Amino acid sequence: MNEQILRYFLEHEDQYISGEELSRQLNCSRTAVWKHIEVLRKQGYVFDAVPRKGYKMLDKPIIIQAAKLMQSLQTKTLGRVLRIYDEVDSTQNIAHSLVRQGAVEGTLVLAEQQNAGRGRMGRSWYSPKGKGIWMSLVLKPTIAMQFTPQLTLLVAIALCRAIQAHVPQQVGIKWPNDLLINGRKISGILLESSAEDERLNYVIAGIGISVNLTSEDYPTELRAKATSLFIEKGQLIEREQLICDFLLQLEVLLELYEQMGFAPIRSLWEALTISLHKPIRIQTAKGWVEGTANSIDEMGALWVTCNDGEIIKLYSGDIELLL
Ligand code: BTN
Repeated sequence: MNEQILRYFLEHEDQYISGEELSRQLNCSRTAVWKHIEVLRKQGYVFDAVPRKGYKMLDKPIIIQAAKLMQSLQTKTLGRVLRIYDEVDSTQNIAHSLVRQGAVEGTLVLAEQQNAGRGRMGRSWYSPKGKGIWMSLVLKPTIAMQFTPQLTLLVAIALCRAIQAHVPQQVGIKWPNDLLINGRKISGILLESSAEDERLNYVIAGIGISVNLTSEDYPTELRAKATSLFIEKGQLIEREQLICDFLLQLEVLLELYEQMGFAPIRSLWEALTISLHKPIRIQTAKGWVEGTANSIDEMGALWVTCNDGEIIKLYSGDIELLL
């Protein structure tokens, strides 16, 4: 029904259509028409409603265009196989099932909206329609499972560089792989892997970038913690270009990693992080502990000197910046 009403509006662009006409055309009540329009509004369509004239469609949501993306793509492998969905539970789930069906390295799954977007540490990821980049990328690195933390940091560098090209404000990496602008989160990464006998079969790199959300788009509890490129820059950003920038950065870094190992990645990460040499709080088995992170080691683990002098090595988890 939503599709029918949408088609009718698209066929009558620039015209006011009365509720009565819509209910006649679609064979439903006027209340049902109003409900469908409300659903479309939530999906990003903008309607003017004038008493005795009816509804006119003023704007349509902007959707990611595969052709535009492919035209700007400069990679050899990453993103060369592309699946774009309108609405999914999580692009991670789709990517996992595509891999099980034989998806090749670099396969990219994008969705305009996720209804059960996953974040790290069992959290959910807010993914409203048409406002962000919600994507999952299939990677098949030939490394042992214990090196996955290195890959996490590598993906964060690629994302940081790509986003930085679109905003004047400084984009920083908060350990392990959150991207922040002015202390507020702009992007997050979730790596999910499948391994056998310590060898990685594949990794699904899930990336969420809050691109064109306004502060009103965020639920109240997220407003103070999260930001978007639109909020920071005051300008809508073309998502296709940002996706291509990220994929190219990632491909270059993966090649560097393959040729030179983790050492150059570690230096790049250290140059972009905002987590080192500052007071932080970490959650440990013994509860919250305060200290200072000094470095990451050759495995990608964070070394924290606690205020009581104890040194803790973190491979995963979360930290809170205290300043
Ligand atoms: C985090 O910061 O907690 C990680 C967020 C990762 C979100 C992305 S959005 C695309 C992909 N699909 C998901 O369900 N999650 C990741």
